[in-house]
Amino acid sequence: MSTIVEFMTSKHRECDDIFSEAESAVAKENWDEATIKWQAFTDELELHLQAEETILFPQFEQATGMTAGPTQVMRMEHEQMRALVNDLNKDLIDNNKISFLGNSETLMVLMQQHNMKEEMMLYPMTEQHLPNVTEVSNALRQHCHSS
Ligand SMILES: [Fe+2]
Ligand SMILES: [Fe+2]
Repeated sequence: MSTIVEFMTSKHRECDDIFSEAESAVAKENWDEATIKWQAFTDELELHLQAEETILFPQFEQATGMTAGPTQVMRMEHEQMRALVNDLNKDLIDNNKISFLGNSETLMVLMQQHNMKEEMMLYPMTEQHLPNVTEVSNALRQHCHSS
C-alpha cells in the first residue's frame, strides 16, 4: 500500500479505536475514564481533520483542478462531525448516557461512511495525481505528530 493511503487509513483506525473505548466507558458509566478517552479521541480527530483541510485537500484541489467536488463534500462532513462532537461534549459534561450513546451512534455511522469515501476514492486519487507524494506524506505525518 502506498504512503498517504496507508498513513491516513491507519489514523482512521486509531480514531475508531479510541472512540469505541470512550463509548464503552460511557456505557459502563465510568465517567472519569470516559472523559479521558473522549478527550484523547477529540484531540486525535481534530488533528486529523485539520491535516486534511490544511494539507491534503488543498493538494488534491491543486493537483486535480477539482475545487468544488469531493473535497467540498468532505469539508461539509467534517463540519457535521464537529457539530456532533460539540453535542457529545455536552452529553459527557451532563453525564447523560442515553443522549451520548444516541449521538455517538450517529457520529460513528457518519465517520464510517466518510472514512470509506476517503479511503476508497479521495486518498488514492490524491496519490495518483500528486507530483510530490513523499513530501505531502511527510507533512501529514508531521502534522499528526506521528512517525
Ligand atoms: Fe476527512
Ligand atoms: Fe480522514
